[in-house]
Parts: sequence; C-alpha cells; structure tokens
Amino acid sequence: MLKLTKALFCAAALSMTALAQAADPIVIKFAHVVAENTPKGQGALMFQKRVADDALLKDRVKIEVYPNSSLFGDGKEMEALLLGDVQLLAPSLAKFEQYTKQLQIYDLPFLFDDLAAVDRFQQGPQGKALLTAMDDKGIHGLAYWHNGLKQLSANKKVIVPKDARGLKFRVQASSVLEAQFVAIHANPRKMSFAEVYQGLQTGTVNGTENTWSNYESQKVNEVQPFFTETNHGLIDYMVITNAKFWNGLPEDIRTELQKIMDQVTVEVNKQAEALNNTARQKIIDAKTSEIDPLTAEQRQQWREAMRPVWDKFSDEIGADLIKAADDSNKAP
Ligand code: LMR
Repeated sequence: MLKLTKALFCAAALSMTALAQAADPIVIKFAHVVAENTPKGQGALMFQKRVADDALLKDRVKIEVYPNSSLFGDGKEMEALLLGDVQLLAPSLAKFEQYTKQLQIYDLPFLFDDLAAVDRFQQGPQGKALLTAMDDKGIHGLAYWHNGLKQLSANKKVIVPKDARGLKFRVQASSVLEAQFVAIHANPRKMSFAEVYQGLQTGTVNGTENTWSNYESQKVNEVQPFFTETNHGLIDYMVITNAKFWNGLPEDIRTELQKIMDQVTVEVNKQAEALNNTARQKIIDAKTSEIDPLTAEQRQQWREAMRPVWDKFSDEIGADLIKAADDSNKAP
C-alpha cells in the first residue's frame, strides 16, 4: 500500500513538473544598440507588446528587449546570436560584411533617392532574396526596418567635399563606408555605436554620419556644432534571428511570430520618417548646432566625389544587384 502511494505521489510530482515545463514560456531576447525613441527602439517595443497581447502567444512566448547596447553591443551581438545567447537583433545593414558581401549594397553613397525607392528595392525579388543570404551562416533575416537617410556632422562647417579633407570621421564597421570617406580625402575610423558620443567629445574623431533620430537620441548635437543635410546614404536594419533557433520553434508559434513581425514592420517603416523629422526639430530647438542644407549644385559635388566607391565594390556586390537597386529610384 505504502509502495503504491509512493508510486502515485512520484507520478503526480512528475506530471506536475511536466506541466510546469510546458507552461514555461519561450524567452526571446531582442537586443539592439540604439535608444528607445528611435525607429528601431520603437519597433522592438511594439513587437514585444503585440506578442504579449496575442491570444496564441501570450502564455507561450516572452519577448525581452535590451536597448542601448545593454545586453550586447556592436562587435559582440552577432557572435552572441550564433551562440544562442540572444535570439533577435536588428543590426544596421552596414554591419553584415563579415557574413555576406552582397548587403554592402546598402552602404553605397547616393544609391537611393528616398525611402520609397528603398521600399521598392527591399520588397522586390532581389531585396527579398537578401533576407536569406546568410542562412548558410546560421543567420536568418525576418524583415527590413527603416531608419532613414544619413546626414554628416562635424566640429566645423562642412558644405562641399573639400571642407571634409583631413577630418577624422567615425564609421560603422563597413569597408564601403571607409572607402566613402577616403574618396573625399578624410580619415575614417571604425568605432562601435556606444563609443560615438565620447569619441566626438574627446576629439578621437571630428565628425560622423548618421540619421537625425540617432543623433538626437545620443545627444550628439551637444558635441557637434555643425550638421550638413546631405542625405547621402542609408541607415536601415535587418531584423535577424538564429536560423537553428527559428526553425526549431513549434510551427504555429513561428508562423504567428512572423505574422506579427510583418505587421510591426509596416508600422515601423511608416513611422520612421516622422521620428527623424521630430528629432531634427529637437536639435534645432536645442540651439546647440547649425544645420546646413545643400544647394543642388553642392549636393552634386558630394555625389561626384563619392560615386567612385560604386565601381570599387561592384564586383563584390554584383553589378546586377546594383542596377536593380538603382532602378528602384524610378517610380513605377
Ligand atoms: C550606427 O552604428 O551608427 C548605427 O548602426 C546604429 C543603429 O543601429 O542605428
């Protein structure tokens, strides 16, 4: 009798453990390097909220968001994803060079006229195919998120390319961006995003390139008295996951997560431009810095000075891909 009770007790305890295990939600850590009041920061929070509110997912998946390089920063985050220490990232498209040369396309200066052209390319067959270009390395792309077009900043007024000669510019970890500054006889320095403010403050670098939302949310205007409205390049993101982790999720969960990701992507991409405009206005209101617009003729000088970069990387990226992206500037 005693034996039977013991056996029953053990069975009950076992099934309770099994139940507890079944009830444990899958934790998905989403790490990124920017502030929360940016397109990517907002997108990560929106994704977290929609998953938490979703009837199918709310008890089965928990999204944890780590902004501002608080879990992993540049240089570490991709390795962490491959090791399974984080499940979602959204690095800027400039940060994938080690995994595929094709994505370097997004760093080519003066490639896209505006975000509508970027959309046409990303939603077209070539752009979509790039989402899976790193699957063989264990990295799977789920979506493209916009930030916006890049502007220059510096500790002196920079209106035409020759004004930038000799200045040290912080760049993301991208050979194309290095070449872009070499083309205008400036000195590029690769530096992680978390180090930018200090790098500018201490004079390790004299200037940089980024979007208004990244400048404003990092208070870069406190240490950069001049901005030049060049719109010369793009900061966009690929939301990525560890391919093995993603494929190992129960199918209903994976499908629902992708559905929510697609919905959030539409929202992020709709809001990005407005967020950047608000950030630009905040910099104007702060009266810390001068924002210099360019005339068409001045902008043409930048275009001509930077365009040789296209030829330098054409073989690595693929001339056909560059043509497809360039063609997306023509509205259908
Ligand atoms: C940068 O390093 O400047 C950007 O990639 C940061 C970001 O994620 O927007």
